Amino acid sequence: MRLILIGPPGAGKGTQAAFIKEKFGIPQISTGDMLRAAVKAGTPLGLAAKEVMDKGQLVSDDIIIGLVKERLTQPDCANGFLFDGFPRTIPQAEALQAAGIPIDFVLEISVPDEEIVTRMSGRRVDPVSGRTYHIVYNPPKVEGKDDITGDPLIQRDDDKEEVVLKRLAVYHAQTEALVKFYGDLAASGEASAPQYRSISGLGSIEEIKNRVFEALK
Ligand code: AP5
Ligand code: ZN
Repeated sequence: MRLILIGPPGAGKGTQAAFIKEKFGIPQISTGDMLRAAVKAGTPLGLAAKEVMDKGQLVSDDIIIGLVKERLTQPDCANGFLFDGFPRTIPQAEALQAAGIPIDFVLEISVPDEEIVTRMSGRRVDPVSGRTYHIVYNPPKVEGKDDITGDPLIQRDDDKEEVVLKRLAVYHAQTEALVKFYGDLAASGEASAPQYRSISGLGSIEEIKNRVFEALK
């Protein structure tokens, strides 16, 4: 199974990716998580990326495409993978196509802007594993600690309200065009075209999980 998850910041891509990777036994490739790992390691890429991410803008296509191509050479990607947060621009989608990597499904999780800010303000993450919680909708078993490792949970630097609003604007300006890009590709009838599915991301995490699995049948 090769899958792309599309959706605005806070749509629940990371939350649902955890269920999908477990069910299908495929790795989750989150470009956001990869960039945050580089920031944490203090690499030159991380230092440059942090400045861009903290403003809610996108890291350059060349850097992202390079990162993803390298990731795909690793052996765990041989039987499929799940992209979370990639591609995020038309040039990224075109680079993926040009690399001749066939995709089975593109799944859009749509959530209206009004809901996003509430979700982001309550989000807490384990910076090591990327596991995601919400203080109200998906609280950890022990407050402030990851369920599995017990590591302290943190708030992401780009979850401040003004940065969230900027990220939403960037989504509408640069990423939402992929909905039409992949919708048109699916409708083209080309043998290698992915199937396109869109679901509402409003409802409980469990309800969305059921919708996701239904859409991937
Ligand atoms: P990235 O890490 O990809 O962030 P994002 O797309 O903005 O998405 P989020 O991780 O914020 O949201 P999510 O959809 O995963 O939601 P989650 O499941 O956590 O990117 C960060 C930055 O890196 C970008 O801004 C950019 O600078 C850079 N970057 C990354 N990829 C790039 C690329 N390809 N090109 C260029 N730049 C790139 O859920 C959110 C919260 O809601 C959680 O608290 C969760 O518990 C809760 N929640 C989830 N589902 C529900 C539900 N159904 N009901 C109630 N609460 C819910
Ligand atoms: Zn995420």
